[in-house]
Amino acid sequence: MIVAIDGPAGAGKSTVARAVADALGVGYVDTGAMYRALTLLALRSGVDLADDAVLADLARANPVRLDHGSTGLRVYIAGDDVTMAIREADVTGAVSQVAAHPGVRAEMVDRQRDIMAIGDWVSDGRDIGSVVCPDAAVKVFLTASVDERARRRHAELVARGEKVDLRVIRDDVERRDHADSSRAASPLVVADGAVILDTTGMGIDEVVRRIAGMAQEARS
Ligand code: DC
Repeated sequence: MIVAIDGPAGAGKSTVARAVADALGVGYVDTGAMYRALTLLALRSGVDLADDAVLADLARANPVRLDHGSTGLRVYIAGDDVTMAIREADVTGAVSQVAAHPGVRAEMVDRQRDIMAIGDWVSDGRDIGSVVCPDAAVKVFLTASVDERARRRHAELVARGEKVDLRVIRDDVERRDHADSSRAASPLVVADGAVILDTTGMGIDEVVRRIAGMAQEARS
């Protein structure tokens, strides 16, 4: 059984998806981390981020590996553990451009389908219910207001000890919304059959309970 959770940046998808996977006792596929890992490798290799073919070759030659260890989900590319590095600002700033390329997306979608071909999974991203797993048993479109998403992201960065301006974060959230929704290849859309969950003012526990409940219903 696949639980597909899509939605805009900062909706809390990865926190929720991870917790839903734990609640159901299944694996979690963080597809955003896969695009981030490729972006980091491209930045480190000095590859032109506008070149779809070169980036797609890079993705094919360096499949991202997701490992579920005792310290949580770890992300590897080209033999390196990039779990922390993919959250840095340079990667966050460049990933929308990399993820917009059709050739890159085709490679990533193949890899994601390979990972989820057998067994039960929770996956989050932008196109899981619409493209990667259109037959997913549960599809959720997780969203929240721009202000709420910016506030959450700001709190997360402050907790990490970073000094950031809420207005800058809000602008970044809006910029990424626009980039992810307006790109030609697999734009962020509400998938057919998806339940829209607006989490503005809702606690994580309640969101997790609702989605885990949908999954249990779909299983029975
Ligand atoms: O969820 P995130 O912030 O880690 O995602 C990073 C970027 O990757 C974001 O710009 C959207 C893109 N992405 C995508 O295009 N398709 C996915 N399935 C997952 C992420």
